[in-house]
Amino acid sequence: MKKQAMLLVLGVAALSSVSATAQAADINAGKDAFETCRGCHVSVGTSNVYPTYYVPKVGGQVAAYTVSALKSYKASNRPHRTMMANTYDMSEQRMEDIAAYLAQDKGGSTKAIANGGNAANGKKLAAACMACHNDDTSATATNPRLAGQHANYLEKAMTEYQSGKRKNALMQSMVQGLSEDDIKDIAAYFNSLNGLTTVK
Ligand code: HEC
Ligand code: HEC
Repeated sequence: MKKQAMLLVLGVAALSSVSATAQAADINAGKDAFETCRGCHVSVGTSNVYPTYYVPKVGGQVAAYTVSALKSYKASNRPHRTMMANTYDMSEQRMEDIAAYLAQDKGGSTKAIANGGNAANGKKLAAACMACHNDDTSATATNPRLAGQHANYLEKAMTEYQSGKRKNALMQSMVQGLSEDDIKDIAAYFNSLNGLTTVK
């Protein structure tokens, strides 16, 4: 009996280690795959041309969110031409590798470009957001980090949820009632926190 139970345990252990290897994200492969992305994502203050806003910081971002963001571009749920072109034939494994690389890349610039909004007022308005945007970077985290993101990118993201251009029912409902000034102040608040970095 004891021996049988032991064999069973070994069998399960062997199985789970096989599936873990098959899915493990490869940080070095992710770094190589990110080479084509560097032109836009590695220097602070690179701007998207039209409309004008800073390319988002992705260093230290939660891996599960990066995968989900890349999938959204691939599925055209986030209409951005370059990002759609960069993901249209990207495999899930490659997304996982890139996400793992970005999550641990925290050595780049922390500089976060501000928007002149009122961060103290933004902090009050953001009380309802903190359950999810609490800067959790543990392995089980799924919600994006907003801390330290460039302010005009955050404004643009919120505005796009409001208009439905960026499709996410939950976030659409969260930002629906916010005015332009509210959005500016909330963006200023998250921008003022330490968090995301520009990839090294
Ligand atoms: C021509 C410039 C450019 C290139 C090249 C580029 N990106 Fe982007 N990336 C952007 C811009 C601009 C955005 C914001 C788009 C939007 O508003 O949705 C973005 C958004 C992202 C996001 C979402 C960030 C967030 O907070 O939601 C991720 C992840 C990302 N890029 C990863 C990559 C990867 C991986 C590559 C290479 C395979 C890449 N990018 C190549 C400009 C670029
Ligand atoms: C129940 C959890 C939850 C709450 C509460 C919440 N969010 Fe979000 N937020 C998310 C998730 C999940 C996403 C990613 C959605 C997607 O893929 O587009 C997100 C995305 C965002 C983004 C885009 C991030 C990026 O890098 O592009 C911004 C900005 C944002 N939220 C702001 C807010 C604000 C402001 C509030 C409060 C008014 C708020 N959120 C409340 C879960 C939440």
